[in-house]
Amino acid sequence: MSEQTKKIIFSGIQPTGVFTLGNYIGAVRNWVTLQEEYNCAYSIVDMHALTVRQDPQKFRQQSLESFALLLACGINPDKSLTFIQSHVRTHAELSWILSCYTQFGELSRMTQFKDKSAKHADNVNVGLFTYPALMAADILLYKTDLVPVGADQKQHLELSRDIATRFNNLYGNVFTIPEPYIPKIGAKVMSLADPTKKMSKSDDNVNAFISILDKPEVIVKKFKRAVTDSDMEVVYREGKDGINNLMTIYSTVTGKSFDEIENEFSGKGYGVFKTAVGEAVADHLGPVRENFERLMNDKAYLQECYTKGAQKALQFSTRTLDKVKHKVGLVKNEVK
Ligand code: TRP
Repeated sequence: MSEQTKKIIFSGIQPTGVFTLGNYIGAVRNWVTLQEEYNCAYSIVDMHALTVRQDPQKFRQQSLESFALLLACGINPDKSLTFIQSHVRTHAELSWILSCYTQFGELSRMTQFKDKSAKHADNVNVGLFTYPALMAADILLYKTDLVPVGADQKQHLELSRDIATRFNNLYGNVFTIPEPYIPKIGAKVMSLADPTKKMSKSDDNVNAFISILDKPEVIVKKFKRAVTDSDMEVVYREGKDGINNLMTIYSTVTGKSFDEIENEFSGKGYGVFKTAVGEAVADHLGPVRENFERLMNDKAYLQECYTKGAQKALQFSTRTLDKVKHKVGLVKNEVK
């Protein structure tokens, strides 16, 4: 993060399983492109994932794999600050302080909290409730200008802005107020089994989502089974959710426009189209899978990357945290 003129981007992804094609097209692929124009920080937010009960061994493995996946997708750790959240203690520390500047009422209104507490009624833990304060800490520690997030995280980002503004009003200009970043080509990928629902890695039906590490033949098979409508024309039109979704996916991986796609498959029917989408996606993800396998076989390199990333992140974020601590009146820590 040396070039000060570039705006700063921060985003995070939870290590709750292999990314889906939805995470890839909707988020990570854009993160890769953003590296050219911005100073970027990307984090595997493992502490956020602890708000839901995890199997320790599986979770550890998934966190490592998620980190490797970021690199496999093209995040360059020399260019972007790439780290695992729990390795950088400033996040938890700032999160506590910010939670003292966040109102119970505000957190109670978060729709994700309401949804998740309904879904995990046996474990409505306080972490789930204060999750947005940790997210605010992630963002504010890095003087973030822009945060690429999907619609489901907008409310949390809005709250981060409110907390930052409130803090600045009390103590002067400490935090940069982050803005949402809406990608120019931000496609939302829907479930292959129910194209009115977002593609999700936690779907019980494995045919509903493509994992970016699925083998080519599995990818093609899943696309062949994708739910569409009962007409036959490959056209992008309101109400044709399944076809619209496949066209969006095909367009993103091939760079072809909807017009071009409609021409290419005119009169060919859904079967041919579905196979073509499957093959295009499989081709596109091939290199990602190869990179991933190489990285997972080179644990020393992986470790070096996340260690360096965490060191740089700690250094940068400590400056913000120290300022905050001073402002609120904590005694300076001289422990070396
Ligand atoms: N809450 C985000 C999600 O589930 C992940 C996240 C954590 C995040 N910290 C962040 C996203 C900071 C953007 C910025 O998708």
